[in-house]
Amino acid sequence: MIRTHNCGELSEIIVGNEVTLVGWVSRIRDLGGVLFIELRDMYGRVQLVVEPSRADVFKQAKEVSLYYVLKAKGIVRNRPENMINPELPTGKIEVEVRDFEVLNTTPPLPFLPEDDVKVQEDTRLSWRFLDLRRPRMQRNLVFRHELLQLVRNFLSSKGFIEIETPFLTKSTPEGARDFIVPSRNFPGKFYALPQSPQLYKQILISSGFDRYFQIVRCFRDEDLRQDRQPEFTQIDLEMSYPEIDDIFLLIEELFVNIFDKLFNKKLATPFQRISYHESLTKYGSDKPDLRIKEEIIDLAVIFSSTDNALLSKIIAEGGKILALRSEKVFSRKEIEDIRNKMIAEGAEGVLYFNAFGGEFSGQLGKYIPPYSCLDNGQYFVIAGPDDYKTYSLMGKLRNILFRPEDDDFKFLWVHDFPLFEWNEEEQRIDPCHHMFTQPREEDISILETNPLKVIGNQYDLVLNGVEIASGSIRNHNVNIQRKIMKLIGLDDDKIERDFGFLMKALEYGAPPHGGIALGFDRIVAMLLRLDSIRDCIAFPKTTSAQALFELAPNDVDPKQLKELHLKIEE
Ligand code: AMO
Repeated sequence: MIRTHNCGELSEIIVGNEVTLVGWVSRIRDLGGVLFIELRDMYGRVQLVVEPSRADVFKQAKEVSLYYVLKAKGIVRNRPENMINPELPTGKIEVEVRDFEVLNTTPPLPFLPEDDVKVQEDTRLSWRFLDLRRPRMQRNLVFRHELLQLVRNFLSSKGFIEIETPFLTKSTPEGARDFIVPSRNFPGKFYALPQSPQLYKQILISSGFDRYFQIVRCFRDEDLRQDRQPEFTQIDLEMSYPEIDDIFLLIEELFVNIFDKLFNKKLATPFQRISYHESLTKYGSDKPDLRIKEEIIDLAVIFSSTDNALLSKIIAEGGKILALRSEKVFSRKEIEDIRNKMIAEGAEGVLYFNAFGGEFSGQLGKYIPPYSCLDNGQYFVIAGPDDYKTYSLMGKLRNILFRPEDDDFKFLWVHDFPLFEWNEEEQRIDPCHHMFTQPREEDISILETNPLKVIGNQYDLVLNGVEIASGSIRNHNVNIQRKIMKLIGLDDDKIERDFGFLMKALEYGAPPHGGIALGFDRIVAMLLRLDSIRDCIAFPKTTSAQALFELAPNDVDPKQLKELHLKIEE
């Protein structure tokens, strides 16, 4: 190495020694002739002092600009008492420079790569290498690395074998659009990048690998949001012969380990569990944020003989009058905003009333029977059919009305999802998770007669309102797998063409199996309390799926297109 020490490791122990340091110039101060240069690298910062008495070095040092790369040889000395910087690990010492070399220069930077410098995200992404010099970004990626090692070691210690599965593969539709790759050797044919290794991991189980895992990149061409990337990383695992509890226990132990080793904190287990139905009827969501305490209230009794025309009609039709109670009283203007937000979410409206000391006021106040037993507060009411859609609106309202009460990590298992959901647009049923999920044993008899009532052996792990993992027990029985595929509209030809290889692996004695995949980027972002998963991915895409630094997607050479038998239509 051309250095003897890095910029973070010098202390008063080696005062008097000669050291050679290299790093970036992150600060220059000229204090009455003496030049102070702060040198930084990934490990820390250290102060160099250039005395005017060393005329040649001083002259050279005067030419230095911010973020030049310097090599400096000098003697470590104690800082004067009044210059000690207790904030800095190297704050008690400084290095008096004897020799000095500029190893690289730079034009002025578009922004200084410091944590407290405010820059638009687009600029940060366009200058990603510079953005990644910021200490916070470096800490995020170091944490990601540590978490990755921990997960890998943990799963290996539990007997999971890491096996890589192909990236150039066949389309395995799981809800999102595929990224496809044209084949040069087979004109008109395409590979697809995997949305997840779902099929391969099931096949590996059929091959006799009792426990598989992979920390793997997945690709989905879907509309992006703050917590979604077109390529993202999963901790993907699968095991033979599990009960759902085995998977829950394994993942809980993994998180206990993470909190213990990386945060020195004790995480309470088991995590709370809730069925999909209970989650929707209590919180209006299958990924509720449990840091918000408020639950949905059913006001059917209060309004059972109401003379409000709208509400009585909804009750007569078997609908629900649902409410959320807020201790905070919102102003008229705020209520109007809440109403508008909910209309944008698809609600027809939001009604409200106030209940204080047995007196009722506000929009619905006059319809509340006297002596109704209601806790004090402002009530926001949505009335609608007795279905999950009405409850989901309440879930949205819950997130608009209330902010999380604390900054804790609240994990929640949501289980017993419906196997299918109704796709209004296409007028057919879709798998709720994916089509490989096994129906609950007791529902198999109604699989074909009443599919929307079938519950699947599926589970999600939710952390503070974000789905961080999802999994299920799979269909090892090829006949049930085929029935499900047919129910969602695939015919025998399509099943054979697209999934023949999986069906064969199931048919030839696949062990019962199940697993889960954790969204690694989301988990890192949540554990570090980042606003965006882009802040823990070295080279992320924007929400319009562009790479702003290297500039992708881009045009390709017409020759490449020709080789791939492709023509671009204007
Ligand atoms: P699923 O599609 O639910 O399940 O994905 C598992 C987890 O991956 C994360 N995730 C994402 N993270 C960032 N950007 C995205 N675009 C994105 N999409 C998903 C989420 C999610 O919970 N094969 C199944 C798993 C299984 O059944 O074992 C699967 O992929 O945190």
